[in-house]
Amino acid sequence: MSHILHGGYHHPLSRAWQAERTLTKDMLCYPIFLTDDAQALDPIESLPEQYRIGLGRLEAFLAPLVKKGLKSVILFGVPLKDGVKNPEGTNAEDPNGPVIQGVKLIRQAFPEVFVACDVCLCEYTSHGHCGILREDGTLNNPLSIQRMKEVAVAYAKAGAHCVAPSDMMDQRIGAIKEGLIEAGLAHKVMLMSYAAKFAGAFYGPFREAANSAPSFGDRRAYQLPPCSRGLARRAVQRDMAEGADAIMVKPGTPYLDILRETADLARDYPIAVYQVSGEYAMLYHSANAGVFDLKTAVLETMNGFLRAGATILLTYYTPRLLDWLDEE
Ligand code: PBG
Ligand code: ZN
Repeated sequence: MSHILHGGYHHPLSRAWQAERTLTKDMLCYPIFLTDDAQALDPIESLPEQYRIGLGRLEAFLAPLVKKGLKSVILFGVPLKDGVKNPEGTNAEDPNGPVIQGVKLIRQAFPEVFVACDVCLCEYTSHGHCGILREDGTLNNPLSIQRMKEVAVAYAKAGAHCVAPSDMMDQRIGAIKEGLIEAGLAHKVMLMSYAAKFAGAFYGPFREAANSAPSFGDRRAYQLPPCSRGLARRAVQRDMAEGADAIMVKPGTPYLDILRETADLARDYPIAVYQVSGEYAMLYHSANAGVFDLKTAVLETMNGFLRAGATILLTYYTPRLLDWLDEE
């Protein structure tokens, strides 16, 4: 008798009951590119339907999304003016730069929205790497984590609810936590670690959007090798020990095994997954080419993330999902 399964999921509701966790709007976190041209609303070629947004356009851009139930955003700075980039990425914490001004604007205009900031130097360094380099072109980790600490604290002071370092320097979680404690902010700022972040092809559209591709070499000496489970486990365990409040896996779909393993390993933490730019573009272009229906395919990826253990979903499909969830 136990071999007859169909009866258990014949009805739409009995199908919904099969889920351990159901997609809701408050799981969604929308990545936003803020640029330093105040009136910009530039479509990003590599990420169709996404924009580089100037501060003068931000409130009008977000208002309809907030009305539909947008609960959180993660901000990326995209400085495009001449002379902003230098080897130390000092303009990451420019008090007049788009991220710090953007945090303040969103906090003021949308007090109910949770504001996270990606913390990295690659958008601000002249060489495009995520940290500070030695003369031989390799990373200077101690100087890099000192900078990550300064940048994260500056974002937290501006009002960010969450700082999320994506640089993959060793021991930056500990350094940032220490900075938040020293600044008297550790009790109200969440530290989300991009702990299991893998190197690879899927960040291509983002790097075009953020103008952050490295000018030489690649990121394989700091982002994780795609073949590795062990390093991901070690990085997750280390970042928990250093004081992370949430753990992220990135990219999403090619790393569902890592996501499941991370959710088991960090079972007392919120688990975020980043459906990155290449995944977004792949789904978008496939749907346009008639491979599948976009809504069905994107919801299937979301269910995959939830099944694998995610509780926070970073996705460029957030605006679409806010609509789709109303249709359900
Ligand atoms: C910055 C950063 C990147 C992404 C998030 N933060 C790019 C990279 O590491 O090269 C990728 C996000 C995406 O592809 O959507 N370090
Ligand atoms: Zn970076």
